[in-house]
Amino acid sequence: MCGIVGAIHREAGVLESLLEGLRTLEYRGYDSVGVGVVHGGRLCVQKRAGRIDELVRALAGGELAGVRAGIGHSRWATHGAVTDENAHPHTDVAGELALVHNGIVENHRELRTALEAAGFVFRSETDTEVLAHLVAREIAAGRALAEAVRRALAHVRGYYAIAVLVGGDEPQLVGARQGPPLCVGATPGAGWLASDVLALLPHTRDVFFLEDGDVAEVAPGRIAITDAAGKAVERPLRHIEWQAAAGDKGAWPHFMLKEIHEQPDVVARTAYPRLGGDGTDVRLEGGFWTDESLRRVSRVQTVACGTALHAGLVARYMLEGLGGVPADAEYASEFRYRDPLLDRDSLVVAISQSGETADTLAAMRLGQVRGGRSLAICNSIGSTMVREAEASFLIDAGPEIGVASTKAFVAMLVAAYLIAVRIGRARGHLAPETARERLEELRRVPAALEHLLAEAVVARVREMAHRHAHAKGFLFLGRGINYPIALEGALKLKEISYVHAEGYPAGEMKHGPIALIEPGMTTVVVAPRDGVVEKLRSNVEQVRARGGHVIAVGSDPECLAVAHEAIEVPDAGPWLSPVLDVVPLQLFAYHVAEARGCDIDKPRNLAKSVTVE
Ligand code: M6R
Repeated sequence: MCGIVGAIHREAGVLESLLEGLRTLEYRGYDSVGVGVVHGGRLCVQKRAGRIDELVRALAGGELAGVRAGIGHSRWATHGAVTDENAHPHTDVAGELALVHNGIVENHRELRTALEAAGFVFRSETDTEVLAHLVAREIAAGRALAEAVRRALAHVRGYYAIAVLVGGDEPQLVGARQGPPLCVGATPGAGWLASDVLALLPHTRDVFFLEDGDVAEVAPGRIAITDAAGKAVERPLRHIEWQAAAGDKGAWPHFMLKEIHEQPDVVARTAYPRLGGDGTDVRLEGGFWTDESLRRVSRVQTVACGTALHAGLVARYMLEGLGGVPADAEYASEFRYRDPLLDRDSLVVAISQSGETADTLAAMRLGQVRGGRSLAICNSIGSTMVREAEASFLIDAGPEIGVASTKAFVAMLVAAYLIAVRIGRARGHLAPETARERLEELRRVPAALEHLLAEAVVARVREMAHRHAHAKGFLFLGRGINYPIALEGALKLKEISYVHAEGYPAGEMKHGPIALIEPGMTTVVVAPRDGVVEKLRSNVEQVRARGGHVIAVGSDPECLAVAHEAIEVPDAGPWLSPVLDVVPLQLFAYHVAEARGCDIDKPRNLAKSVTVE
């Protein structure tokens, strides 16, 4: 969703770095974009509905090249249509201050009415513009910028990350956070801020993540952070290991394809550092992971959205089967409005790539309010979820830029597996030798993924996907631990190729979806060699008998043999089969989208991180 960048340099060159930062944030989804810069002491704003290239064209005629301070924003509209006027930055009446904002000002109507009554003239329909006027009013009352921002925000209900730029011979840049993330960093020649750490990586890998209520003054070589009370505070300086180049697609046609191919490495990075010792347990550090702490857990509730929810559904099977603990999974958007019965030994596990998804965060917080414990499985070190959870398991997927989640999903599955084994060992549910076998199976997964991603298999999936690209619709069927993989296969196809696809537990087919089966309808069956595959084979026969076309993906040779077409997947054992089975489905979705000419990395209407309800 929306993105913020800001920079203040000793030398010229800010405009280029703002545009570079905005391009880095493009993957989050946006519909308009703008920059505000200080040029010759004066504030200049350019903003456009549309893509960054349109903004660049608008900037081409100006003389903004030598600027030393600026802010930029990519907007994903919430309040007000997608127009140039509603794009950020917004300015005060005198045009001396520019402000960009992620999040929502919930009481913007009453604030606007009061400000208009006091003579402030509004130029947009956004909730954001009130913030510019509120800050300007405090500055006019003689406050320094950071104090003016803090006082202005005291009137605001809602959640926000903002950056404020004031012109003059010595431009000033301030950021503040209440909810959505904002990180800041400084090098000797510059100061930086951004809503996503990826945008800072070309400049520095040492960053501060602001906490709720913080206001940060950003200057070359200097960051000063104060808390909600105006007291100077030290926040931990985090070193980000991700390489800037990880956010670059290199020779790959799309980030999604690059990220699918990174999966063997991602699995190794997430798993291997946590293996070791005598091979019979998982190494997880911190008080949360001790035997005593894990034995206390009476049940696990995973909460997540979209693809992460599918990881939660797989985790349910692993936690019960390997961990020996009752487990459930639910859409965070449903859980947060339930009246869940939790006690102090219930563990709510929030699963999220971004760590900022509004519903998942709210569900985790509800679990905490109800007295439960909390754990975040997350890909973003400085995220709100990681900060607020009692403990976290950081997956090591690296930056995921494609809107369609692939490598983060696979890393979430690996995290769930490791956690389930650790819980199983702590609770005495898994004998040491059984745990050793399970962990050995995990060690073999990266190589099996490499095999699956070999060019021959990829070419076969591509050819199959192109042939089916114009099917009437798709039904994805799976059973047991691979039922969520059927859901994930259908979701991937829907979101990037805009084809109707439904994921279903195969045993439910006879209770309704079988009515959809007819020539032209393609059924994709996830068919690992496991305890329920015989049932799946009869489901395949039932589809065939009604004229449906079946593609089978998996390791069960008999099921593959009864399908019309098949993609064979290496056998990873029943618990890890989802990690492999999902890969051909990701590739299938990718190549159907390619054949249909879709914008694969930036599918319509979707944002990478859904930070609003
Ligand atoms: O950042 P999160 O993992 O919390 O995001 C959850 C969903 O929004 C996300 O998985 C979404 O469904 C993806 N577009 C799926 O590919």
